[in-house]
Amino acid sequence: MPVTQFTVPEKYTYNIGLGSYHHSEALKGANPVAQNSPQVPPYKLLTECISGTSFTTPRNLNLSVWMYRVTASFNRGRYVSYTAETASSKVAAGPMTYSPNFLHWNDFGLEPGYDWVSSQKVILSSGDIATKTGFSYSVFAATKDMAPNTAYYSSDGDTLIIPQAGVLDIKTELGHLMVRPNEIAMIPRGLKYRVTLPAGSARGYICELRQGHFRLPELGTIGTTGLANARDFQIPVAVFDGTITDGVASCPAVEWTIIRKYNGSLFSCTRNHTPFDVAAWHGSYYPYKYDLGRFSVLGSLLYDHPDPSIFTVLTAPSFRGPGTAVVEFCIFPPRWQVMENTYWLPPYHMNTMSEFIGIIMKDPEPNPDTAFKPFGGMLTGAMTPHGSDKKEHDAERAKAFKPAKVATEPVMAFLLESASIPGVAEWASKIVIEK
Ligand SMILES: [Fe+2]
Repeated sequence: MPVTQFTVPEKYTYNIGLGSYHHSEALKGANPVAQNSPQVPPYKLLTECISGTSFTTPRNLNLSVWMYRVTASFNRGRYVSYTAETASSKVAAGPMTYSPNFLHWNDFGLEPGYDWVSSQKVILSSGDIATKTGFSYSVFAATKDMAPNTAYYSSDGDTLIIPQAGVLDIKTELGHLMVRPNEIAMIPRGLKYRVTLPAGSARGYICELRQGHFRLPELGTIGTTGLANARDFQIPVAVFDGTITDGVASCPAVEWTIIRKYNGSLFSCTRNHTPFDVAAWHGSYYPYKYDLGRFSVLGSLLYDHPDPSIFTVLTAPSFRGPGTAVVEFCIFPPRWQVMENTYWLPPYHMNTMSEFIGIIMKDPEPNPDTAFKPFGGMLTGAMTPHGSDKKEHDAERAKAFKPAKVATEPVMAFLLESASIPGVAEWASKIVIEK
């Protein structure tokens, strides 16, 4: 079965299909028919829209969502600087540094005592938040739930979440996502959510995409299906934390705190209503998750390696030139090697793109001090020569060629490949091994 056998069972139901226009109702009939903003929507709800792209973005790239809720996000107190202690405020500040060497982090090893928001630390960054260019790669290591009646959102970019350990229970304004290692999730810019940890501590990686949005790569001559298939992406269904009285939807007045990331800094405001009061929504701008075990791996059948773009799950086109991406998210799952006169290790190479590799799962290696471990990372900046050790190549060159499975399961590595050269945060440069 091309599905990950998770140790923690799923607890939610989902719509399916990435790129589709979705429609979901927690209260039957709460989405108005045809009209998006009627004078009085069903259940006397309010209409609120999030535009994820400019209004005039071409139809196939245009992303927006209409929500029907009890109280508008507009009704809130003033934002003030969020002063709670965070892992990043202590150690991530400082100038970015750039190294032409091969960079290796054995273990990002974050401290206990932080939640989803406060545990995040930027490792690498490129571009500029305020001009909506580039991206950042971060790690998180949360050991506790977000505080009760607290939600979070980022104004700075879409958030691609790559858990490495633990389970994230993510309640968004559009519904629930349960995300486990070997699944990924994407939360769009501007959508409020709250993260709890049903299986204890959780850690992993985050890619914040400031420029454009992730989408499935074009398939070209591959045809209709293959790689990550649209039908395997799971989209939340509406949840409504309120009641109906005499046909009118309402939620109790309870104080909530909204933490918001804006141009790289955290702010917060209070309000007297829950953000989870969306009774229905429809649109193309929504969170989703995907089981990496469902990736349909394609490859060479006779000789040589295709480019690793064959492993692309999601791409964020930069539109700077044909086929260029701000970031591409690729994976290296277990797969069969059947080519003749070709071994599975990639040839030595230099790449115009910068490559950041992380490990989600892998059997322990004989030497744990030097091995490339889960929750570590490797960066090869643009045109940095790289490849495997000579002794690994020598071993493969001496083997007889026969079909074999690459990597011992369970194993899953990922690659975030970008057109830009990322800088290294000060805290990360202090623990890096340079080669
Ligand atoms: Fe490479």
